[in-house]
Amino acid sequence: MKMNKKTHFGYKEVDKKDKEVHVGNVFSSVAGNYDIMNDAMSMGMHRLWKMILVELAGVSKKDTILDIASGTGDIAKLISQEYPETEIYMTDINMDMLIEGRDRAVNESFYSNCHFCQLSGEILPFEDETFDIITIGFGLRNFTDKDGGLKEMKRCLKKNGRLLVLEFSKPINPLFSKIYDWYSFNILPRLGSILANDSESYQYLAESIRMHPDQESLKDMILNAGFSKCKFYNLVNGIVCIHVAYEK
Ligand SMILES: C[S@@+](CC[C@H](N)C(=O)[O-])C[C@H]1O[C@@H](n2cnc3c(N)ncnc32)[C@H](O)[C@@H]1O
Repeated sequence: MKMNKKTHFGYKEVDKKDKEVHVGNVFSSVAGNYDIMNDAMSMGMHRLWKMILVELAGVSKKDTILDIASGTGDIAKLISQEYPETEIYMTDINMDMLIEGRDRAVNESFYSNCHFCQLSGEILPFEDETFDIITIGFGLRNFTDKDGGLKEMKRCLKKNGRLLVLEFSKPINPLFSKIYDWYSFNILPRLGSILANDSESYQYLAESIRMHPDQESLKDMILNAGFSKCKFYNLVNGIVCIHVAYEK
């Protein structure tokens, strides 16, 4: 069988082996301005989305939790502050982002129950059935092999564990979708240029969102990875979606 060696990086077609480097360049470029850009682009709403994710996770106080693609650590911070007895692995493939997250954890005092590891969410260096909960916020979209990554997450979850995927998705209302497209391709790159002197990374953001599977397709991928059940919750008309998957 002939293997497809190409994948997408935003709207561009690239060799699969190179995508990680392209994604790495984007996040190394935005790392220092990531938090301010997140607030500006979402008008602060990303904070609420992450709080909803933590609510849906149903954390118990002694849980062991893997946060993949942690970036600057918003999700780890929420969990750590609310559940100080949990053990949280705050992880990211990109050292620049991980350092931003680790420094913030120290400065904002949520490091005491956190481990910091540089790793790819596509190949997890953990034994089977290690975690009660795995979270990934706005990270899956950037994977080269999303199916492989989801299988890895399933493998590393304990029985009755949960995976929570927070990601951009597809707006439900067609008019809303048009306004959102206009915002994404006109305002986002300009915001990136003004606030972070980097329009290209935010052009990639807009494109990568359009290339990411919609709600139902991602649910199918999660079930195909072996999860027994998956529900999703649309936020802001489906601009963002939280998938909750269960390992039985
Ligand atoms: C948009 S940021 C999200 C950060 C944080 N989770 C949040 O919600 O604010 C995406 C993060 O995914 C990381 N990332 C990209 N590909 C990855 C991979 N294959 N494995 C782990 N992390 C990855 C990037 O380095 C970046 O820090």
